[in-house]
Amino acid sequence: MSAEPLEIHLDDQDIGRSLRQDVRVGLTAGAKWLPPRWFYDARGSELFEEITRLPEYYPTRAERAVLAERAAEIVEVTGAKTLIELGSGSSEKTRLLLDAFTRRGGLGTFVPLDVSVSALAGSTATLAADYPGLRVRGIVGDFTRHLDRLPTGGRRLVIFLGGTIGNLLPAERAEFLTGMRAALEVGDWLLIGTDLVKDPAVMVPAYDDAAGVTAEFNRNVLRVLNRELGTDFDPAAFTHVALWDPDREWIEMRLRAERPMRLRVLDLDVSFAAGEELRTEVSAKFRPEGIAAELATAGFRAERFWTDPDALFGVTLARAD
Ligand code: AVJ
Repeated sequence: MSAEPLEIHLDDQDIGRSLRQDVRVGLTAGAKWLPPRWFYDARGSELFEEITRLPEYYPTRAERAVLAERAAEIVEVTGAKTLIELGSGSSEKTRLLLDAFTRRGGLGTFVPLDVSVSALAGSTATLAADYPGLRVRGIVGDFTRHLDRLPTGGRRLVIFLGGTIGNLLPAERAEFLTGMRAALEVGDWLLIGTDLVKDPAVMVPAYDDAAGVTAEFNRNVLRVLNRELGTDFDPAAFTHVALWDPDREWIEMRLRAERPMRLRVLDLDVSFAAGEELRTEVSAKFRPEGIAAELATAGFRAERFWTDPDALFGVTLARAD
């Protein structure tokens, strides 16, 4: 079957509006910040794919190891008819699940949801070709806003991989999980990937690689602002910073202005002091007890929890209670 036309819940106008809103809030804050979703234009998405292949960036390989080991069990336990993937990107690791569903039979529809039309157009076409008999319905949307647009009916399995939930701040995370539960019926399933708390000597290099790919990825957000808003940031004037916050148990990425600067951003005058930092990403790391507790608060029961052999990354299979 060929993929169905993409269902668009997010157009360029919406995206522009939320970018301007985020920039207005984040760059006028006392401690400047921007949400990580603005990394992912076409170049940012490519840089992220490159990150996933770096020797220091263990999460992708560790999660893939868990999925390879447990795909058949996930299929067996959930008996899903519809597989929904939030923030699907290239859906590369999802193939392990699709292969297992194909062997067992019974999966009717795959629904990848992503903010990127280009990523979805590519992945839905290839997946539809590679999995004949599977209905592939791509949805262009934002997983923090469009959970009410997911298809209903039939046992559903929603997957949210890569540790992307760690990009949400704790309050946003609680809101996301509650919204997710509201979009599901009792007996539907959620499979969620979370990076685990471990030695900072392992975590920090994953966000500060020797080849400098993550630094380029981080600076890419300034290129996105320059292009979309006509700002005049000089990416070379910003240094990439990655640090572990032991109290909040998250990695923060920042861009440090190496000299004072003053810029026009929208209708705002924005200035950076030399050494001032702009927070561009939070990537929370989790403990097994914490994951189960957050899921329970939102109305899910964690039924299975697996890690890779080195216990770097966790994958939880939870049932909507
Ligand atoms: C795509 C959100 C899972 O937080 O590890 C990679 C993004 N940032 N390197 C992560 C990212 C810096 C990544 N996620």
